[in-house]
Amino acid sequence: MVVRFREEPLATLAANVLAVFSFEGQAASSGTVAHLPATVRTLLEEMRNSGELTGKAYDCTWIPKPPGLATSRLLVAGAGKQDQFDTHLLRNVAGAATRAVRARGLHGLCWVLPETQQDCSGEIQAVVEGAILADYDADRYKTDRERDRRIDTLELAAIAGPPTESEKAAAERGRIIAEATNFTRDLVNEPSNRMTPAILAARAQEMARHYGLDCEVLGPEQIRELKMGAFLAVAQGSDEPPRLIVLKYLPPQAPASPLIGLVGKGITFDTGGISIKPATDMHEMKTDMAGGATMLGVMQAIAQLKPNVRVMALVPATENMPSGKAYKPGDVITSMSGKTVEILNTDAEGRLVLADALTYAQQLGCNVLIDAATLTGAVMIALGTITTGVFGRNKEWVARVLASARATGERMWELPVDDEYRELYKSSIADLANTGGRYAGAITGAMFVGEFAGETPWVHLDIAGTRWSNEEKPYRAKGPTGHPVRTLVHLLTTLPTGSSSFAME
Ligand code: BES
Ligand code: MN
Ligand code: ZN
Repeated sequence: MVVRFREEPLATLAANVLAVFSFEGQAASSGTVAHLPATVRTLLEEMRNSGELTGKAYDCTWIPKPPGLATSRLLVAGAGKQDQFDTHLLRNVAGAATRAVRARGLHGLCWVLPETQQDCSGEIQAVVEGAILADYDADRYKTDRERDRRIDTLELAAIAGPPTESEKAAAERGRIIAEATNFTRDLVNEPSNRMTPAILAARAQEMARHYGLDCEVLGPEQIRELKMGAFLAVAQGSDEPPRLIVLKYLPPQAPASPLIGLVGKGITFDTGGISIKPATDMHEMKTDMAGGATMLGVMQAIAQLKPNVRVMALVPATENMPSGKAYKPGDVITSMSGKTVEILNTDAEGRLVLADALTYAQQLGCNVLIDAATLTGAVMIALGTITTGVFGRNKEWVARVLASARATGERMWELPVDDEYRELYKSSIADLANTGGRYAGAITGAMFVGEFAGETPWVHLDIAGTRWSNEEKPYRAKGPTGHPVRTLVHLLTTLPTGSSSFAME
């Protein structure tokens, strides 16, 4: 999507669609409707009075050939009650307007920015993100889809004067972040026959080449040489050979520390293995690589945004299959760390592949670890599909992640990590068991993973609930959400760098 600024006065601005918003329970001339010439505002007030224009959040009203404007159409989007309005709602209102434009078979819109002398960077980034995230549909395999039902141009009408450098940068940042999020959504949406570990690795390599990242892909032999017994145990049941994807963003001028390791669960299909899942909803397990796809999207964004911090992403990618070669309940495996694990349920495979990837990340020098994984059904019981579960013992890094989540509007909530839960995943014959029983499943899953982070600051994001939405919203198609790409990009691009207060302890 091309994003550009327009600087003409609104009355003479020739556009296909000029988009403004107004609030609920107020005059129609609230919000950015206030910036329109009086002729059209009079018409909008009449429509408000007759109930045709409500201002309700996401309600979209079209006015063809509006009087006093050069635009072909005016689109008035409802922004809800003004006291509940914020940047996150603005992102969604811009998204709803974008989907309304697409539904009409139109391909562009011109969004009117607020007329203010203040810096509009936050608003601009939100509008651009909202439009690009809304311009996504999981319809790749519909042969009758309207292929051209996409927005190609988003214009931003800067009516308070030419955009500042910071505002131009905000538009570009919004585009980069939203496109990276859509890249993640595309990967998550692919079915497992079209998203094998090898294909995921190829997509990572292609992305890395395009954006100038270093990318290394390890195959089964190299994974065996590294003694990744936990990762290999999961992989051994599948005919699709595993891959360990390693992406590196190491700007030479960045401080040596921190070196942040992003580890994403990359199970391209999770049948449950020998502890097989029920058939109902098993198809949803094509999304079990959402954590890995998240990290690839984050790397795509930071390769362009170029924060002054060193980052690596590691994605252990494999299927979890039942077969004559599959690992079995009762098996004892030796992880790369040397810790032994008794397998009580082959469906608790995510923590095993993460365990070895975390060990390897530390071997590569990472001194901060963040993992994202569709780890447990239990987190969906706790938080539903709205909120990502956040876990970690390092208060500072957990707080940073939560603050970034708040800044981006992606919902996250901290759940406890506490030594008393360790009892639950003790094994009678090995160091650890890979399941912790029925209670506190999200916590014991998280803590099992944390056992392999050692003393390194570590934050775990359980995105089993948030990776996908079955609910269509006015501003978002149903399907893959791209959570939590925006939070992690925010985190990495707002870290205080170069300061001595930025110690790791
Ligand atoms: N990939 C699943 C978790 C999952 C469930 C993600 C539903 C998205 C939607 C994970 O590998 C799994 O199967 N977890 C088990 C763990 C249990 C056996 C300890 C679970 O949650 O049932
Ligand atoms: Mn599983
Ligand atoms: Zn899984």
